[in-house]
Amino acid sequence: MEDSKSPKYREQFYLECGFATRALHAGEHVGQPQHASHTGAIYQTSTFVFDSATEGAEIFSGERPGYIYTRLGNPTVLLLEAKLNALEGKEVKLADPNVRVSSLAFSSGMAAISSTVMALCSAGDTLIMGDVVYGATEHLAQTVLARLGINVVEVDTSDLDAVERVIKAHPGAKGILFETPTNPLLAVTDITALAKLVKGVNPEIKVVVDSTFATPYLQRPLELGADVVVHSTTKYLGGHGVVVGGIMTTTDDAIKDRAYEVIKDVGCSPSPFDAWLVNMGLKTLPVRMERHCSNALTLARFLEEHPKVERVYYPGLKDNRYHELAKRQMSNFGGMVSFDVVGGLEAGRRLMDCIEVFTLAVSLGCVDSLIQHPASMTHACVPREKREAAGLGDGLIRISVGIEDSTDLLSALDRALATI
Ligand SMILES: Cc1ncc(COP(=O)(O)O)c(C=O)c1O
Repeated sequence: MEDSKSPKYREQFYLECGFATRALHAGEHVGQPQHASHTGAIYQTSTFVFDSATEGAEIFSGERPGYIYTRLGNPTVLLLEAKLNALEGKEVKLADPNVRVSSLAFSSGMAAISSTVMALCSAGDTLIMGDVVYGATEHLAQTVLARLGINVVEVDTSDLDAVERVIKAHPGAKGILFETPTNPLLAVTDITALAKLVKGVNPEIKVVVDSTFATPYLQRPLELGADVVVHSTTKYLGGHGVVVGGIMTTTDDAIKDRAYEVIKDVGCSPSPFDAWLVNMGLKTLPVRMERHCSNALTLARFLEEHPKVERVYYPGLKDNRYHELAKRQMSNFGGMVSFDVVGGLEAGRRLMDCIEVFTLAVSLGCVDSLIQHPASMTHACVPREKREAAGLGDGLIRISVGIEDSTDLLSALDRALATI
């Protein structure tokens, strides 16, 4: 009988457990020597000691497992990666039983995204990208990728007819990268239908989902047919606003191997301490997400009825155009809400300057509530015409709803709206 304390036994055991149990326990046993530490230890070291020159040479050549140098691998980082495998990968149906779900941790969400693109595309290749994405992802496409000779074509991925036209027009495309729900308009793409469409037309195109707004607790793109899922762990996965990080999880070994080359040679691995902080955050992800979602729905319903609010963007609202799709694809609607105020930018500024409880800051997914103005902050680098064509106006305000008492959030919003 297999030893119930062995890492292999525990890996299998926890894979059968529920999400909350996996978030707490999965990975904790990986690469950790038996010093009886209850929580996975922080290996805050740049390099690792070899027992002998022979052992060092064998680890370097891959004949023997072992750690060399933290940019190349670190037990605390491995623990985080193992946990993400268990959170994103439980129900994934693998076409090839020899391929496993694997994750790589990065120094930021942008490092995860850019490394994934570099794993997929070379000079002269085309990447298809969602037309509304986080500002830095857009900027990456316009600057770094353009300089490297990677052609980016944008499409509204929630419109499958448009996606079909684009993938047929670009037979050499290597990947399609999109967010769902999107930052900041909360548009939702049907991952199952898009993956089926792409695989039917051109299986060479890899489907990459930035699932930062949803987290693996609410949505698991690999189970829905995507090849790669990326997250900024800075957000809900870390959860406390104390770390910048990223992760990619994939069912495609070739993508993982090429992304690992990027980590190794470009050098975008996370620090062990940051990986540890994300791991600590993940332990409470399910309970935090429940509260983020219920508070967000309460606020979205309040804003929907408010005379000073023109429009609310939240897929949890019944008349939101993505409501039915989000209900099918996600287990809840998330903690992000955007809205247009009557009076546009000036009114929005007044609201952001006087609101209590909410902190005026970019980023999202923290335990406490944040408020920001996408057109002048997170999405300022997106050209105005493009922003406006996508429906991202100057009056749009984005809130990351925290886990405070909902009554305090409601009254803070109500008081701030009364001033405009
Ligand atoms: C959807 C999305 N993806 C990626 C990123 C980039 O993550 P990071 O800031 O950790 O590099 C962000 C940051 O806000 C984001 O909102």
